[in-house]
Amino acid sequence: MDNVVILAGGQGKRMKADIPKPMFKVLGEPMLEWVIKACKGADLTELCIVKGYKFEYIDEYLKGSFETVLQEERLGTGHAVMQAIPFLKKNINDNTLVLCGDAPFIDSETIKNALKLHKREDNSVTVITSIVDDPTGYGRVVRSENGIASIVEEKDATEEQKKITEINSGAYWFKTADLVSALDEIKPNNAQGEYYLTDSVFIALNKGKRANAYISENPNVVLGANDRKGLLLLNNIARMAIIEKHMENGIEFNCTDGITIGRDVKIGLGTEILQGTIIKGNTVIGENCVIGPNCLIENCEIGDNVTLNYVQAYESKIEEGAKIGPFVHIRPNSVIGKNVKIGDFVEVKNSNIGENTSIAHLTYVGDSDVGSRVNFGCGCVTVNYDGVNKNRCKIGDNCFIGCNTNLIAPVKLGEGVYTAAGSTITKDVPDYALAIERGELKFREGYSKRKLKDKLK
Ligand code: UD1
Ligand code: CA
Repeated sequence: MDNVVILAGGQGKRMKADIPKPMFKVLGEPMLEWVIKACKGADLTELCIVKGYKFEYIDEYLKGSFETVLQEERLGTGHAVMQAIPFLKKNINDNTLVLCGDAPFIDSETIKNALKLHKREDNSVTVITSIVDDPTGYGRVVRSENGIASIVEEKDATEEQKKITEINSGAYWFKTADLVSALDEIKPNNAQGEYYLTDSVFIALNKGKRANAYISENPNVVLGANDRKGLLLLNNIARMAIIEKHMENGIEFNCTDGITIGRDVKIGLGTEILQGTIIKGNTVIGENCVIGPNCLIENCEIGDNVTLNYVQAYESKIEEGAKIGPFVHIRPNSVIGKNVKIGDFVEVKNSNIGENTSIAHLTYVGDSDVGSRVNFGCGCVTVNYDGVNKNRCKIGDNCFIGCNTNLIAPVKLGEGVYTAAGSTITKDVPDYALAIERGELKFREGYSKRKLKDKLK
């Protein structure tokens, strides 16, 4: 079984926030999560996360889903991996991938291809490298005739070595047994007085073993962020990469301003995404939809030919042909049926709305089961909360809910029920009845003339 050790002990000093650097988010997910997902995508499941600075944030995030070890003092990348020795010894026979928890763009393909090279060449260590225009700050990869000779950190490099543009991404495959024995020999004999994991390269070579580099085809594998500007750059890179992938799949964008799409979102052919739209989580969108402008969609399942305009929708299902917006809030656990129309200033929560129903304006439907072909007039409210309990309303097919109707839950309207405008419905209504609840209309003749006297023109 192959192991993974993810180094996540570091602090993000220049971020000016007191959380571990790998917990800073790119497209709404901690960088550590990106790295974990890359491992999962490469079918690697034996993960150990080395935590250090403010480790409680990491514990809280992982909720015990992976093994962690604590590095009490930050004495370098080699020292960090040393903390994982007991973990490594559990699966000593195969290989170990070491990754940085703050380099979110390492990808599953790179991981798998590097492992192939590592195995094919029977390397003791295979360093994942990248060739960059500006290598400043990174460890330089010194090549040998048939592999690599060493990795030299910026602070230890000669002027000649500083010119090398092949850099260490901070990700490596090791033979696990060789890694464990190399960790024994790493000493902090360098400009920074740190235990460098990179010393494992010449330690392996000194023992007559092979070390080589896998040059990643993804130039972003090395990218990390040291400050907020750097983090914004990572967000922009990730954001545009996802949008480009959707364009390749036939999704239309006439302008990408303000559009952010989570990387697990799926979008069907011919759908158009308009400005200011944020789509998150495991949202799936069908074909030929128009989503936007200015929608926020999280974990929703959306059918074909749906229009969403200025809609916020969470954890809900919106079926084929629904037209929703502008200014609509679909709260969790709702199912909006086929060809439903929902118009401005409507909120739907934890409700099922049947096919072809129309809720056109200024209405709240909460904790309700609404049939098909129901028409809500303007300003209707399902009064679902009595101050203690939430109760449900049931509305049968073909009902016509007059403007400003209050339905006091729990209450049930049968099929084809009409409610008169302004009625407050407190009792179940039988099929095909008109429910009307109104005081007698009275007039006081001449009232305003008396009140306003000479002000009337
Ligand atoms: C390291 C590499 C360098 C490479 C670069 C890529 C070494 C000696 N150098 O540089 O060759 O080009 O990564 O980004 O390894 N960490 C801990 N505990 C520590 C130190 C670091 O957990 O004591 C973690 C950090 O949180 C981070 C990762 O290890 O996730 C890399 O640490 P960082 O300080 O960025 O490494 P560099 O020295 O910059
Ligand atoms: Ca670094």
